[in-house]
Amino acid sequence: MTHPIDLAVIGGSGLYQFPGLENATRQSVDTPYGPASGDVVVGDFAGRRIAFLARHGESHTLPPHRVNYRANLWALHHLGARRVVGVNAVGGIRHDMGPRAIVVPDQIIDYTHGRYTSFCDVEGAEVKHIDFSEPYTASLRIALIDAAKQAGIEVIDGGCYGATQGPRLETRAEITRMKRDGCDLVGMTGMPEAALARELELDYACLALVANFAAGCGDEAEISIEEIFAHLAAATAEVPPILAELLT
Ligand code: HPA
Repeated sequence: MTHPIDLAVIGGSGLYQFPGLENATRQSVDTPYGPASGDVVVGDFAGRRIAFLARHGESHTLPPHRVNYRANLWALHHLGARRVVGVNAVGGIRHDMGPRAIVVPDQIIDYTHGRYTSFCDVEGAEVKHIDFSEPYTASLRIALIDAAKQAGIEVIDGGCYGATQGPRLETRAEITRMKRDGCDLVGMTGMPEAALARELELDYACLALVANFAAGCGDEAEISIEEIFAHLAAATAEVPPILAELLT
C-alpha cells in the first residue's frame, strides 16, 4: 500500500457516495465472511486518502439486518484503514435531538438479534472478550467534535444509541421502554458495527444524523419516509465539511 488510508467512512441511509472524492478507485475485497456491502471506494479528500463504503449498498438494497457488518469492517481493515467513522441515520428520543441534529454518541444499548456479532463466530477462531465499557473510541469522538466546531457545525457531544433490529420503525411503547432504559437515539445499524470495529482494534466513532423524532417523541402521529429522507439530506450535507476538518 503506497498511500495509507487516513480514514474510512461507512455511509448510512442517504450517503451512498462520498462527495468530492478525487482520483477514486474501486476496490472489491474478498473477505472470509462473504461479500461486503459493495466495493470500497478509495480516493483523495481534503488532501488525504479515504476509503468509503455504502453500508446499505450504493442503491440501498440491503436492509439493516442483512448488512454483512463483519465483511465490511474486515474489508476496510484489510485495505489498511485504522480509524472508521460510521455515519448513521437515527430517530431522536431526547427532546433536544430533533430532526437534522447531529450527535456523536458515547454509549450504546443493543436490542438487535440474529446478527453475526463477533469475528469469534467462526469454527476455530480465537475467543476474544473485548472491553466495551466505552463502545466508541474516545480520541476519535473528541476529534470529531473538535472538527465540527472548527467547521462551524453544531453537534451534540454524547448520547446513548439504542440499536434496534428494523427494518420497521419502532412502536411508541418500544420507544417509551428505550427512553426508560436511557436511550437518547434509536437506529438500526450501530450494532454490531461498533463491536466488530473494536474486535479488529480499529478506532471507531459514530456521526448520528437525526432524521425524525422517534415514535411518540414528536408531534406527528406517523413518521413519513419522505420526511426522513428530506431531513437526512440536510444533515448529510454537513458530513463532508466535518470530515475535512477531521483530516486537516
Ligand atoms: N428508528 C430507527 N431507526 C431510524 C429511525 C427511527 O425512528 N429514523 C432513522 N433511522
